[in-house]
Amino acid sequence: MYKILTLNNISVAGLEKLPRERYEVASEIQHPDAILLRSFKMHGMEIPKSLKAVGRAGAGVNNIPVEDMSKRGIPVFNAPGANSNAVKELVIAGMLIACRNIGPAWDFARGLEGTDAEISKQVEAGKKNFGGYELPGRTLGVIGLGAIGGRVANAAISLGMNVIGFDPGITVEGAWALDAGVRKAASIDEVLTHSDFVTFHVPLVDATRDLINADRLKRMRDGVVILNFARDGIVDDKAVVEAIASGKVYGYVCDFPSNLLKDTPKVVSLPHLGASTREAEENCAVMVAEQVRDYLETGNIVNS
Ligand code: MLT
Repeated sequence: MYKILTLNNISVAGLEKLPRERYEVASEIQHPDAILLRSFKMHGMEIPKSLKAVGRAGAGVNNIPVEDMSKRGIPVFNAPGANSNAVKELVIAGMLIACRNIGPAWDFARGLEGTDAEISKQVEAGKKNFGGYELPGRTLGVIGLGAIGGRVANAAISLGMNVIGFDPGITVEGAWALDAGVRKAASIDEVLTHSDFVTFHVPLVDATRDLINADRLKRMRDGVVILNFARDGIVDDKAVVEAIASGKVYGYVCDFPSNLLKDTPKVVSLPHLGASTREAEENCAVMVAEQVRDYLETGNIVNS
């Protein structure tokens, strides 16, 4: 019997790939053969001696001490691309949230009170204060043209936007995006200087930490909207909050809440919801459960 420890909720569709007659799956289990997880941070956790594989039901692996795992000969499996449609949809929503002022308008609407006539008056004031702008003709800059960035770029083109993208290594999805009309930039700075919206689809590594900092913000267009649905730490939140206060940045939509962001107007921050759709959770869980199962049973390694 193989023992699988789940450190987060894993979709049933994935767990069904681990037949009960051969697998015991639980959130507390002694001597696990494998760990399945989503965003649980494994750094600092005591690694069971019995562990043979780790499966992350998501794309990023920065919550797993990958180097330590490789030293121990433990492969880390992930699910690249399996949640890319879910993230793409939320990024597109993020652009609309920012340019239609949905965050402050929603706060305003919730605070309306009085008679029908009084509310009508306030609604008129709201229409004036929260008027926005449209996407066609605006330029979206995409940093990272992988499975997610490539799809975001294609979706933006279909909405009538111009898209400029940067990625030193072009993936299949990136190539589709370039075929569809994405302009390929030679550097991140070229993207930043030409974009009305900028979105990041890169992992958090030393080279991408604080990729957007006070210096880079200065080079961006006035009134730019910044979207971070990749990883907390890629954008220096403090610098963005200051750039919002100065009027340089129009809006910031990110998928990571923080005390710094919560009271800043023009910021909408979400509790890491990009991949949280039923479909994405199922896709990711199935992909990693199959990889972990195949590895445990055959030693076959795909995509670790
Ligand atoms: C990812 O890396 O794909 C996401 O962080 C997945 C998740 O939200 O669990």
